[in-house]
Amino acid sequence: MAFGRKNVLDMTVGLPDFETPSFIIEAAKKAMDDGFTKYTHNAGLLEVRESLARKLKRENNIVADPKTEILCTVGGMGTLVLTNMALVNPGDEVIYPDPGFVSHRSHVLLTGGKPVPVQLKKENGFGVRAEDIEALITDKTKLLVLNHPNNPTGGVLSRKEMERIADLAIQHDFVVLSDEAYEKFHYGEENPRLFGALPGMKERTITLFSFSKTYAMTGWRIGFSTGPAEIIHAMTMLQEHFVSHPTSISQKAAQAAVDGPQDCVKEMHDTFKKRRNIITKGLQSIEGIELDRPGGAFYVFPDISAYGLKSFDLAKKLLDDTGVVTVHGSGFGQYGEGFLRFCYAVATKRIENALQRLDTYLPKLLK
Ligand SMILES: Cc1ncc(COP(=O)(O)O)c(C=O)c1O
Repeated sequence: MAFGRKNVLDMTVGLPDFETPSFIIEAAKKAMDDGFTKYTHNAGLLEVRESLARKLKRENNIVADPKTEILCTVGGMGTLVLTNMALVNPGDEVIYPDPGFVSHRSHVLLTGGKPVPVQLKKENGFGVRAEDIEALITDKTKLLVLNHPNNPTGGVLSRKEMERIADLAIQHDFVVLSDEAYEKFHYGEENPRLFGALPGMKERTITLFSFSKTYAMTGWRIGFSTGPAEIIHAMTMLQEHFVSHPTSISQKAAQAAVDGPQDCVKEMHDTFKKRRNIITKGLQSIEGIELDRPGGAFYVFPDISAYGLKSFDLAKKLLDDTGVVTVHGSGFGQYGEGFLRFCYAVATKRIENALQRLDTYLPKLLK
């Protein structure tokens, strides 16, 4: 609806406003000059997987065999779809976060599985709770999708809660798909462990990594998965028949990204953290909005129920009357109603302008 309109402040798509770091672009050019223009192994070039294995050990405390436990994918999306196709049979149940990234549900439907939403609650900082998952487990539960820092809420998960969920996975024997698309965008003190690095979880966790957000590489379509060899093998065979493998040049760019200096990631992290503070403080000061400061990703998900409108209707009104473009919470699942998502991976000036327009407009809806 916003497309083609003038004077809009777009805060919708999760697209970092940074350019891909130049050393990564140079590595891709060099890859072409060096002849990396041909088919690769369906799991990706072995030398790239070896670099990814070193990254996993260095940064995530995960030891993975590059020959059997790592798969290069077409974005994080590749891991999502292949995990579902490899594991989920018609009738199997998949528990996934709601509000959540829209594809988590769609991929279950594509495989004939039954999507079972687990509510992420505002009062828990939108971190999923083991007790809420437990209430949904049946003998058909095959897979649990976790995503923290979370899209669309920015919620993060405590180590304690992860451990409770890990106990459930062992007790009820299901696999966990841990979506780490926002791995590098945690704003708390501690450097959190990944779910797949918890004791006993390597055997039953597929971890999704993406270069899209971490290195501002959304268009390169490159990511990777790590997990048990048997599942990675099934995913590799499926990948062969869909896309063969991600582009050889993107694979080499990804290798340069993980092998190279990481100050570009720190710069983005620190910038997003500052913007999170600005947008949170600004929205909190607007009459009618309720928001706790989220712990990660680059989204805020304020409660807008005080205005008495469905989230879609409020988003449309904001577009028409203020030019601020947001995403209605109901677009992220049934439990997203009553909220709006703002992406703050945009220029600080745009955030400040949007806050000003909202502050002038929103309180009037309460009268
Ligand atoms: C939670 C989450 N997972 C996965 C993806 C897929 O990203 P990509 O395929 O670009 O790596 C996204 C994209 O927005 C996301 O927000």
